[in-house]
Amino acid sequence: MRTAVIVLAAGRGERLGGKTPKAFVEIAGRTILERALDSLMAFDGFDRLQPVISREDFDRYAELDLPPDPRLAPPVAGGAERQDSVAAGLAALPEEFELLAIHDAARCRVQAGDIARVVSVAEEFGAALLAVPARDTVKLVSDGAVARTPERAGCWLAQTPQVFHRGLYAEALAKAEADGFQGTDDAELVEHLGAPVRVVSGNPGNFKITSPEDLIAAERGIAQGEAQ
Ligand code: C5P
Repeated sequence: MRTAVIVLAAGRGERLGGKTPKAFVEIAGRTILERALDSLMAFDGFDRLQPVISREDFDRYAELDLPPDPRLAPPVAGGAERQDSVAAGLAALPEEFELLAIHDAARCRVQAGDIARVVSVAEEFGAALLAVPARDTVKLVSDGAVARTPERAGCWLAQTPQVFHRGLYAEALAKAEADGFQGTDDAELVEHLGAPVRVVSGNPGNFKITSPEDLIAAERGIAQGEAQ
């Protein structure tokens, strides 16, 4: 199946502090978005990479140092919510791309081996995401008190890429829009449709850069990777 990845980089990243939008913050001399695109291009199973950025960031994007890879499409403008940005990326993809991966640029160190596994499971089963087992006990909290403690062995933390047959994802997105349903990830839209989503064991290094501490952790990981 011809496979495309939507690279989501239109968020403002307010929890990171600072004035620069998150995707354009540098780690060890290279922006988060450049690093994310490098990581995704290292997987040769993607036939198209479709960046989604804020409409305010086109000048910043033009300044990036990106390899001349013909698979990399020009960026499109995202929307107010993450789900709107996915819809904008999807609208820019020609119909020939039948398998759709969706990735947070803020997970800029995703590994090609993990991408290959989740893409292959999604191709076979229709929908799959990378996730890691929760190390801590998860509490569902309501009004400041514990409402329920799900069994830890069944708790996983969702990552991206999340990968879907395009028709299934388009149907899930249309239903979410019709129902006014907002998911915090893409698998949730497919779950809302009632279709099964496979879980593929990922890598804790593929965390989402959210806070200033995450930037430091990512920098440390990059330095260790380069030293090997
Ligand atoms: O806000 P959150 O950390 O969940 O964002 C995850 C990813 O989605 C980030 O890479 C961010 O740039 C992207 N995003 C987007 N459009 C939005 C909000 C978030 O592309 N409106």
